[in-house]
Amino acid sequence: VNEILPPASDTLARLPLAEKVGLLSGDGPWHTRAVESMGLPAAELSDGPHGLRTETGIDMVWLPSTGFPTGSALGSSWDPDLARRVGRAIGEEARALGVQAVLGPGINMKRTPLCGRNFEYFSEDPALAAGLATAWVDGIQSTGVAACLKHFAANNQETHRTEISVEIDETTLRELYLEAFRRVITAASPWLVMCSYNRIGGVHASQHPWLLTTVLREEWGFDGVVVSDWDAVHDPVAAVRAGLDLEMPGTEGRSAAALLAAIESGTLDEETVDRAAGRVVRFVRRVLPEGRQADGPAVRAAGAGRGVPLSDAQLVDIDAAAHHQLAREAATASAVLLRNQRRSLPLDPDASQRIAVIGGYATTPRIQGGGSSGVAPTRVDQPLAAIRAIAGPDRVAYAQGYPTGWTNYYQEAEPVRDDAAALRSEAVRTAAAADVLIVFAGLRIADESEASDRHSLDLPADQVRLLVDLAALGKPMVVVLAAGSPVVLDPAWHDASAAVLLTHLGGQGAGTATAALLFGLANPSGRLAETWPVRLADTPGIETFPGSDGRVHYGEGIQIGYRWYDARGVDVAYPFGHGLSYTSFEYDSLVADASDDALEVGVRVSNTGARPGAEVLQLYVTPPPPPSPRRPRSLAGFAKAELAPGESRVVQVRVPLRDLSHWASDRGWLLTGGDWRVEAAASSRDTRVAASVHLGERGFGRDHREGSGPS
Ligand code: GLC
Repeated sequence: VNEILPPASDTLARLPLAEKVGLLSGDGPWHTRAVESMGLPAAELSDGPHGLRTETGIDMVWLPSTGFPTGSALGSSWDPDLARRVGRAIGEEARALGVQAVLGPGINMKRTPLCGRNFEYFSEDPALAAGLATAWVDGIQSTGVAACLKHFAANNQETHRTEISVEIDETTLRELYLEAFRRVITAASPWLVMCSYNRIGGVHASQHPWLLTTVLREEWGFDGVVVSDWDAVHDPVAAVRAGLDLEMPGTEGRSAAALLAAIESGTLDEETVDRAAGRVVRFVRRVLPEGRQADGPAVRAAGAGRGVPLSDAQLVDIDAAAHHQLAREAATASAVLLRNQRRSLPLDPDASQRIAVIGGYATTPRIQGGGSSGVAPTRVDQPLAAIRAIAGPDRVAYAQGYPTGWTNYYQEAEPVRDDAAALRSEAVRTAAAADVLIVFAGLRIADESEASDRHSLDLPADQVRLLVDLAALGKPMVVVLAAGSPVVLDPAWHDASAAVLLTHLGGQGAGTATAALLFGLANPSGRLAETWPVRLADTPGIETFPGSDGRVHYGEGIQIGYRWYDARGVDVAYPFGHGLSYTSFEYDSLVADASDDALEVGVRVSNTGARPGAEVLQLYVTPPPPPSPRRPRSLAGFAKAELAPGESRVVQVRVPLRDLSHWASDRGWLLTGGDWRVEAAASSRDTRVAASVHLGERGFGRDHREGSGPS
């Protein structure tokens, strides 16, 4: 991927200083600055992590593109190959629409389930987040389109996001909040990294020399462009000096003037500007090697038609049909079967049972969250129609059940029936006449969105009341949850339910995926990538979130997610890594060997049931005694394996020893020597087979990459 590129310096040196500093901020909201004299075109950057959101210049009117499952859904697939294919598809759509960089993936850790953007991020664990993001970046960049790893770093809440200062010790920062960034940058070399809005230790990430130069470039060897989050730059001179290369959006020359003045007054070296400008030029040349705006659909290339959605004929550039199929596949692989009492699922597609589908999300599904990651989907599968297509329309009744309001960006506001009591009683009547209930519930788009955090983990009160009333009917009740992050599962309905299927914010294909899973045309294989707590009071960071006096203290250190609940022996509703299947799997004969630079583990996994299915083998390791809060048991690796009924296979997981080391400050990264416990598990609380393996102590220094240093 890091092909040798023509050095930027040959023509840059001849560029007048005023034009050089102009390269360090964008031209408008979505473009880098073209330089005619260098034959350097403008590159276009677009959101977002789950599909292309290409502005047309008309408010909220975006060019249609495939809406894939959001990060928390894809994270629950535990399937890097799938993530790679999704990344590739998004890259192909970017090329078709003339976009050169996609602003994703987002890989921030989920410190608290209250963060409004958790739906966009993969996991509470860096090993899982990095495994998926590495593949996604590979996929995108295999099309010649840049990925942009974000938000660097420690952007774990939306409350006061542009000013809040994260107060955090270096060990926690490095071992948890930076670790996924390190692994993805090392393994996949994203061409862009986006700095976050927040401060760390009082200094904005956009002008943090330790973050943007010492760690990112000198220790990790990052050689791409650091782009700011939009409007995250407060002092362009301090930003460029710290290692920021490209301020977005453009500032109509204000930043260029400040940079020029700083050079003239001697407070900023011209070499620093040359270095940043050189990186921007190399980036543009890398994504536009032919030196001109890539050819998108006629309407884009002509520059005309902005705001006019592409016609079906023009959508052919996007290969919308194939990508929609991939969106369905991704939604299917990401859904998590949380509960399935007495094998209530799968339902029999050929039975004569009367089915009541209840809930507005069955007709206007939640497919995405709020904010910059929104997509104008090319089409949306409707769950109710998909269920009727399988079960037969005349045995499937429907009632809206609760006010849904505005469900997704892609919709004009619905004529809203908002009389909750009337909707609820109508739904109970409909359910009373049926044999089986399928209830679609979930969070509203306002509950999980960029720029605001959640205030509770509760489902909307109308929905809870409806679920309790429906549970009281005593009929088999299957609940389908659409949520990008955990919700409280009130025992009054949850413990009475027959099954609970979590479809997350599953993208435009989730409707078909959900029906296929409910009727057994597909076998659930998702696993939770974020712990589902019993109650908000149990969650990490609850005492300090969202901070006060402009600061938020990460006092819990590295103990977030399952590390937090395990360390305290706290019960959870559903543990990290949990997910049921319509078949069953057994593990045996774990073999663990330490090679020079990796721990190699093989585990025999067998499908002992009657259906094909996919198991996610999870590897958890515990360092040698004495156990300490600083060295908790953690996920070291994972592998998803498709197995036919009766099939057995040795599933291999390779863990670089560097990934098992801890930060020993002045000694850099250190692998503790001794006997490590290695567990092969079906979830963080379901260990199937374990062994002990001896590892020798080993130092890895500070990750200085050979020949790296500030490029
Ligand atoms: C937003 C988001 C970032 C997005 C950018 C451009 O504020 O924080 O994720 O890519 O601005 O929309």
